[in-house]
Amino acid sequence: MGTNNNVKESSSPATSRSFAIAIMAAGKGTRLKSRYPKVLHRVGGKSLLEHVISASKHLVPASDIFAIIGHEADLVREAVGQTGVSFVLQAEQRGTGHAVMVAREALASYEHVLILSGDAPLIRAETIKQLRDFHFQHQAAMTILTAVPDDPSGYGRIVRKGDTTSPDVAAIVEQKSATAEQLRIREINSGIYAFNATVLFEHIDEIRTDNPHSEFYLTDMAAILMKAGQRVVAMQASDPCEVLGSNTRAELSQLDSYMRERKAAELMTAGVTIYRPETCVIDSDVTVGADTVIEPFVQLLGATSVGAEAHVRSYSVIDNCSIGDRVTVLNSCVLRDSSVADGAILGPFCQLRPGCEIGENAHVGNFVEMKKTRIGKGSKANHLTYLGDSIIGDRVNVGAGTITCNYDGVHKHQTIIEDGAFIGSDATLVAPVKVGRGSYVAAASCVTEDVPPDALAIGRARQTNKENWARANREKAAATKKK
Ligand code: UD1
Ligand code: CA
Repeated sequence: MGTNNNVKESSSPATSRSFAIAIMAAGKGTRLKSRYPKVLHRVGGKSLLEHVISASKHLVPASDIFAIIGHEADLVREAVGQTGVSFVLQAEQRGTGHAVMVAREALASYEHVLILSGDAPLIRAETIKQLRDFHFQHQAAMTILTAVPDDPSGYGRIVRKGDTTSPDVAAIVEQKSATAEQLRIREINSGIYAFNATVLFEHIDEIRTDNPHSEFYLTDMAAILMKAGQRVVAMQASDPCEVLGSNTRAELSQLDSYMRERKAAELMTAGVTIYRPETCVIDSDVTVGADTVIEPFVQLLGATSVGAEAHVRSYSVIDNCSIGDRVTVLNSCVLRDSSVADGAILGPFCQLRPGCEIGENAHVGNFVEMKKTRIGKGSKANHLTYLGDSIIGDRVNVGAGTITCNYDGVHKHQTIIEDGAFIGSDATLVAPVKVGRGSYVAAASCVTEDVPPDALAIGRARQTNKENWARANREKAAATKKK
């Protein structure tokens, strides 16, 4: 098992803090038929585990969050290490009960433990808080978050103790071990629990493996604790979708569309117009300002933020960008890891590769590609242009077909175009090169030397006209044909 220096290994916390969150994330996810661990599969633009960690962080600091990992543990550590959570290694995955046994050392010094499932990403912090409060309020040893979905098949069922109106639970039975009568129960176990840590670890070794998978089921704790005279209660989630698990690719895609619907609805509530939201792909961390209009088939991905009163037209894909107020992104633009200041107009069909900064009210037109390029206020590059590794000032006009030759086959070089310069169409700017403030570059010039401010650079072959050449040529051709 390799270690990652950036990531804290699990250890008993020095001081007793009252509340920890453990996230079970060691399973393989056999039913996904994937070479990657289940919890790293993505819905709503983030891995399942990242969603659960984000929700957890609303309740406790990262130092009190423990991810129990096992299958492809190195990959999982690497993928979520930056969240600051601790990891507990469950080298061999012998069931959910076993996962918690393995975390005993990390968790035992806390008074209470919330156990979440790494494969139930829709859970909201609000619901986890309700579960915690319900757990305290009933002074329970174990509190189970339950739900009543349309189709309970596959889930563990909740056997209530006596009257169904009381919160007390007698047992959880897994689908595979349930009797025909128990299979008719529609209330399911979400796999999310609150435990009194002392009581949990006093009894956890009583879990047996006498079940169809010969695994240690954490769900057995309900009956074990109940028999030991401890209180086991259940709290029903108001929205059954929140606890949906993702065991198959079909379930993953359902969770993804559910999450995106929820995101679009959230944005619309906050004042964003989205036409045909079912066609848009908006990741969970995206923010959009009020009165912005998002047309059909737009994708807003990663940590993208879009300001107010902006307009994003169809088929544009914006990944990890900061877009200002009143920006217009016309159709079919592809923007990545870049920023666009207020009032700029992009596209249609432009590409910003990573590292671009578009200034206020600048225009980047059709078939313009930029990479690592800063273009200032009110500057324009409207047609058929490549600008790479460039610093372009304010009020610059970049003519159609302008190309920065930034790569010499070995190194990348910089092009600087100062404020107010005018680059004629079809110019090639061979970097490193600088075009001074207020200067002109004549159309079709190949600029290999710096241009001083306020100058005119012409770098092209002089035109010669050969009088009557074309007529003579035609007559010669006609004469040969007659022969
Ligand atoms: C579990 C519950 C079931 C509940 C369902 C809700 C058990 C026995 N059953 O079933 O009652 O209705 O969740 O979604 O708990 N994991 C580990 N280590 C292991 C095994 C699993 O960390 O050794 C992790 C998995 O990565 C996953 C989570 O625990 O994130 C749940 O495991 P999974 O195998 O998906 O349990 P279910 O069969 O869905
Ligand atoms: Ca599951």
